[in-house]
Amino acid sequence: MCGIFGCILKNGNAAPVIHEALKRLEYRGYDSVGEATIHNGKLYIKKDQGKIDEVHKTRNLDDLPGSLGIGHTRWATHGAPLEVNAHPHVDCSGQIALVHNGIIENFSELKLELEGLGHVFKSRTDTEVIVHLIEQVLKNNPSLGLADAVLEATKRLDGSYAIAVISTKEPNKIICARHESPLVVGVNENAIYCASDIPAFLPLTNKAVIINDGELVTLSLEGYEIKKITDASLVLREPKIIDWTPEMAVKQGYPHFMLKEIHEQPETLRNTLRLQEHYLDLMATFLDRAREVFLVACGTSYHACLAASYMFSKLAFLATYPVIASEFVEQHGKSVNIDSTILAVSQSGETADTLAAVNCARQRAATVLGLTNVIGSTLTRVSRVYVGQQSGPEIGVAATKTFSSQLSVLAQLALRLAKKRGKVSQDEMDFLAEKLEKLPDTVETIIQTQEEKVKQIAKKYKDAKTFFFLGRGISTATAYEGRLKLMEIAYVPAIAFPAGESKHGPISLVEQGFPVVFVCPKDETHKILIGNIMEMKARGASIIAVIEEGDEEIKKLADDYIEVPKGIPEVLSPIPFVIPLQLLAYYMAVERGHNPDMPRNLAKSVTVK
Ligand code: M6R
Repeated sequence: MCGIFGCILKNGNAAPVIHEALKRLEYRGYDSVGEATIHNGKLYIKKDQGKIDEVHKTRNLDDLPGSLGIGHTRWATHGAPLEVNAHPHVDCSGQIALVHNGIIENFSELKLELEGLGHVFKSRTDTEVIVHLIEQVLKNNPSLGLADAVLEATKRLDGSYAIAVISTKEPNKIICARHESPLVVGVNENAIYCASDIPAFLPLTNKAVIINDGELVTLSLEGYEIKKITDASLVLREPKIIDWTPEMAVKQGYPHFMLKEIHEQPETLRNTLRLQEHYLDLMATFLDRAREVFLVACGTSYHACLAASYMFSKLAFLATYPVIASEFVEQHGKSVNIDSTILAVSQSGETADTLAAVNCARQRAATVLGLTNVIGSTLTRVSRVYVGQQSGPEIGVAATKTFSSQLSVLAQLALRLAKKRGKVSQDEMDFLAEKLEKLPDTVETIIQTQEEKVKQIAKKYKDAKTFFFLGRGISTATAYEGRLKLMEIAYVPAIAFPAGESKHGPISLVEQGFPVVFVCPKDETHKILIGNIMEMKARGASIIAVIEEGDEEIKKLADDYIEVPKGIPEVLSPIPFVIPLQLLAYYMAVERGHNPDMPRNLAKSVTVK
């Protein structure tokens, strides 16, 4: 997730306008920043790694001539967060500049092809292929205009993109195109803008045109022209008036970042399915060779590890040990050795407890693998191999979209390992891969159809003093995560445990009306879980069940239920089943008058032990 911006002004310099807009987009990424403008037929570029303010201090981002330009703030997915990888990227002739948000999946093939034709690449990004591709299209067809060249080039791209392109050959235009990454245009009498989202230009205009997937738009001071990429046919679309307050604008109309991030999950899950292959394969090789594997993390990331231990066991027949990072040194510090592999999972890549476990493992010559959202973080620097979970920055303290992304990456890793070990048939692999591909849509459906219901459930239980969260098998991890979310943002004491443990102690707490949340996918645990529901019901508990659509047996037993679409394989079930629990925690916090984005006593990144 990066932020792109572009503007053409009737009067004045574009650079300070781009700089301000990028500041408003910084929540989308802050690994590097860059701007390009055109003045008197010449391209001017400034870019560097680091946050916008830091780069501005040393490079003065306002000091570029010209009334037309583009800018970018980066969240690194491919290529380290270094100056050379910062956007804008430029073609060989130095005439075309481009900014991009998204991931180009077939960049390696395209790069090989373009290098064969003599193109010289400067960065390690996937993005740079696009600008060379446009250059090549123009070389092959010198009579084409920039817009047509961009249109032709985008037809060769697989993956997601929102791009803005400028060229000294057509110095009064910006060409944009989009597929699966957001793009909007803003208009007023004195300027025209393009951006990843409306807040970028909202202080300058409230008239916005939403660009749809598969569309290309040419901006000039005369206005905008939208075309379909497939057949170049014209699309007519009027601007809409946006009536957001500045506070709403930052959250794109959502009352809180947490809700916005819950809603972003279809998109972030799609991103996890891109560009991971090589690194996942490498990781799978290390896991396959290891004598023992520890999955090490804290909080929500630990819950992802717990779920992953079921995935590795069920798919790849590999026993792994999920360990809470702050306990790792005490529990395994003496025994971990050269034959051990530690897969550390950390959204921030900076959690002190996780890094301490990793350091201990490294000192004892164990292999360290990392899964993180922050490329360039300490975890990426100390890992033998790391994979980026590609969720974009998460601002809400409660981890939501980063959890589902971790689960998706870990499921892919388990599948690769299973394949390497010959433990699943090709049919089963294809079936699971297809289901994984469909998960973003499934999650979208859950949010669309169940959010209102969850809101009502939160209203009903808002004064409850305690909650239980129960599941069996892999759903135990989902239950733990639902409980953590509720506790940390709604301040409701809650207990989670595998449902089979109830009768070994915790059930003594249950009395009339005691809320118990059950996570109930229709997997092998379903039948026995019904028994657990009955034993709670018999003691007067109020049952809130997250079930598969049409699960009539549990519907009859539950006081309230939330449905997720049918047919989710067991190993993938935590992804859809956690969504209602995230929403429940969010609406409980709101009902109880708490700000879900800023839970007391907590910080987003815990860098002390
Ligand atoms: O950045 P990390 O994934 O290493 O963070 C670990 C935990 O601090 C984190 O998941 C925490 O539990 C979340 N805020 C929970 O929502």
